[in-house]
Amino acid sequence: MPIPELVIASANPDKVSEIAVVLQKLAVLIPRPEGMPDVVEDGENLEDNARLKALAVCEFSGRPAVADDTGLEIDVLNGAPGVFSARFAGSDATYQQNVEKVLAELDGVQMGQRTARFKTVAIVRYPDGHELIANGTVEGHISLSPLGEQGFGYDPIFVPVEGEGATFAQMGHEKHRFSHRGRAFRSLGYMLGSN
Ligand code: IMP
Repeated sequence: MPIPELVIASANPDKVSEIAVVLQKLAVLIPRPEGMPDVVEDGENLEDNARLKALAVCEFSGRPAVADDTGLEIDVLNGAPGVFSARFAGSDATYQQNVEKVLAELDGVQMGQRTARFKTVAIVRYPDGHELIANGTVEGHISLSPLGEQGFGYDPIFVPVEGEGATFAQMGHEKHRFSHRGRAFRSLGYMLGSN
């Protein structure tokens, strides 16, 4: 069976390179078309936002498109930042500003209460309207301070339960073995193979 080609909705190089590693040999990723307007991510949940992006790119390009949306849920913050993870510290917040805001909100919170999880929803949308949907979750906790130089976003403060105490930012490609995105896109890759 030929490897399917998918136009990728994300223009975030950090995300695109992770997805390319997980989907290697399972799909060929085509960059999002030049000149495509930004998609307003105003859905109520991760699935809504992933669908908005996949649909917009599919309609613009006329080809099968793949999109994902990710959120960090922190239990003591009642699930925040969740769908607002990209803009937790403001609409143009940097990764570092978002990390600093999380650490400030969790100031004084004991280790046992710092539980959190990343969730990713990945969607492939086809021009005929049918979809593939996959989910990935990783449980973990928020560290007391940032550690590690790799990865992106909240990686320096997220310690997955499977990671022997290291943050995602202290791992290389090992992150994909149990990350939210690794799990969602491996599952999507499996669906592509049987689609
Ligand atoms: P997005 O909506 O999927 O782009 O993700 C929203 C925000 O979550 C991003 O801007 C990052 O700050 C954060 N994020 C997404 N994926 C990851 C990850 O794998 N590690 C750490 N932070 C992430």
